[in-house]
Amino acid sequence: MSNAYKVAILAGDAIGPEIMAQAVRIFGVIEQHRDVAFELVNCPFGASAYFSHGKAFPDETKNICDEVDAILKGPVGLSHEESKRIPIDEQAERGAILPLRARYNTFANFRPIFLSENMVHFSPLKPEIIKNGLDILLIRELVGGLYFGKKERGTNNNGLRYVKETLEYDEEQIRQVLRVAFAQAMKRKKHLHNIHKSNVLVSSVFWNEVLDEVHADYPEVTVTHLLVDAAATALCLNPGQFDVMVMENMFGDILSDQAGGVLGSLGLMPSACIGPEKAYFEPSHGSAPDIAGKNIANPYSMIGSVAMMLEMSFGMQDEAQAVWRAMQSVFEDGVSTADLKTSKDSQIVSTDVFGDKVVSNLKGLLTNEAEAS
Ligand code: IPM
Ligand code: MN
Repeated sequence: MSNAYKVAILAGDAIGPEIMAQAVRIFGVIEQHRDVAFELVNCPFGASAYFSHGKAFPDETKNICDEVDAILKGPVGLSHEESKRIPIDEQAERGAILPLRARYNTFANFRPIFLSENMVHFSPLKPEIIKNGLDILLIRELVGGLYFGKKERGTNNNGLRYVKETLEYDEEQIRQVLRVAFAQAMKRKKHLHNIHKSNVLVSSVFWNEVLDEVHADYPEVTVTHLLVDAAATALCLNPGQFDVMVMENMFGDILSDQAGGVLGSLGLMPSACIGPEKAYFEPSHGSAPDIAGKNIANPYSMIGSVAMMLEMSFGMQDEAQAVWRAMQSVFEDGVSTADLKTSKDSQIVSTDVFGDKVVSNLKGLLTNEAEAS
């Protein structure tokens, strides 16, 4: 066996295990058609891990994640009400996701905002705006800013309760994510949208200064500066103007969810979280407790996260493309799941059956490619 990879599987909560069950099938199909082996190791993570192991990110999961080649993570968390059964610091966001990001310093978060021409009916935007589909790469800084800054609560000298939350970046934290963004722009249309709020925030003024320095190393890339509030409008009015976008953590959290709205569902947005030594891959959405256990959640974002892993962690570019193609063909055949907005003549299938169709398309694509070469 020329290549063998070990992957930690963190199925997560609510719809997590349902969509993960479909995603892991992809590894088996690739193994059947290529000279590669994947060893998958299931690990407790999230709210379910808190109930079974007393920790949202148990030590045994940390140890496994430390030694694997890549991590595939499902959505985690419970409904607002259910979360109250867990102490705040062990709730899935603070107790599992943020510590995972911090542990592997996954500073560059890739969120592809993609709709093929045949998928534009998912978007709530008018056909004249969205008709050619969408292909944007949103790059979000993931381990700095308000998310990880010092936090303080107390009572001030006037007897009033107050809160203080700090936004801190050093120049290297900004530079490293900007380098990733410029490098992606070079591989694509050489056009980078820098999203900031320098008319108000000094952190954005500093971010933009560092951007000018990094830009000097990528003179072929055209940079367009756009205020984050204006970017929110532009994403609705003319999303086709964007190719690669880069922004700090909090802006990226909000704009990527808005982009999910433009796609028609965050269920159509996988993501990659890349650190210097380790990467993990996850859907950009939450665990959707309202539809858990119903076998109706679309596994696109989870399977797309496997595609991103194949490409970014294992250099399997062609296989990753085949996975994307396999999923898009299911939609092109008029098949969808009940959680997505559908055109009136779509055939609605369950999570499992959607997975069956992706697997069967993928087998066909990998077989044909082998015959062609
Ligand atoms: C995301 C999520 C997370 C974030 C939450 C669950 C901590 O919303 O990945 O966008 O805010 O980063
Ligand atoms: Mn978010």
